[in-house]
Amino acid sequence: MNPHGGRYVSHWSRFSARDYRQGLPIPYNIPFHVSLPCRYVFQPFTTAKPMILEAIVTTQNSQGQTHIAPMGIHDIGAELLLVLPFRPSKTLDNLTSTRCAVINYCDDVRIFAGCLTGRRNWPLQPAEKIPGRYLSQALSHVEVELLRTEDDETRPRLYCKTVHTVNHGPFRGFNRAQFSVLEAAILVSRLSMLSQDKIDAEIDYLRIGLEKTAGDREREAWEWLMQAIDRFRRQQSQKR
Ligand SMILES: Cc1cc2nc3c(=O)[nH]c(=O)nc-3n(C[C@H](O)[C@H](O)[C@H](O)COP(=O)(O)O)c2cc1C
Repeated sequence: MNPHGGRYVSHWSRFSARDYRQGLPIPYNIPFHVSLPCRYVFQPFTTAKPMILEAIVTTQNSQGQTHIAPMGIHDIGAELLLVLPFRPSKTLDNLTSTRCAVINYCDDVRIFAGCLTGRRNWPLQPAEKIPGRYLSQALSHVEVELLRTEDDETRPRLYCKTVHTVNHGPFRGFNRAQFSVLEAAILVSRLSMLSQDKIDAEIDYLRIGLEKTAGDREREAWEWLMQAIDRFRRQQSQKR
């Protein structure tokens, strides 16, 4: 069984394309003509939504410069990952032009907060199977190739297949302050869309877990995000 309650099977022939499409919830229908990788095909038994993992995506432009961005990665089974960048996006441009990327799983939340606050200069290492780089702080990383793009004027859907996975360090358990920083980073990425009251209420709640459980890295990341919120509000009040 896979984490979504489906079963891996070793050949296509038992399912029609229609069965396959109908078994996945609508937003996650994999286009029939995506050529699925290797020997596994996901046979869905459930319409449960795939899990979304908050990761750092590293891509390269045609000059080989690496771009780092947090993204929610949809794990849709069968070694397929779905990346959904909002336009405009450097990640989108790089991934569609080079057709490969690295998905970094990382518990140093300073990288999430840093990318949202202009701190994108994190140490990198060369990827092993694709032209690209992974984060030195990653606990694990997955090297992916782009299979197919479903275009959309707001949020294209990039279907990627896993070509290589590497573990670098152990998962050390859940931490509430890391959750608080991730959620606050998402708020910072939506400052212009949310009301001040909503942001204040969410930050007040997130601060509880932060203050009880943070280490140095989480406190530093939180500080960067609070500065970004203050800066945004000052700019808004100057415009009025
Ligand atoms: C935890 C987290 C998850 C995010 N997920 C997405 C996502 O799925 N798609 C997206 O476009 N932006 C997402 N963002 C915001 C982007 O990281 C940010 O807007 C970034 O600059 C994307 O644009 P870029 O590709 O040009 O760097 C996320 C931010 C955070 C903190």
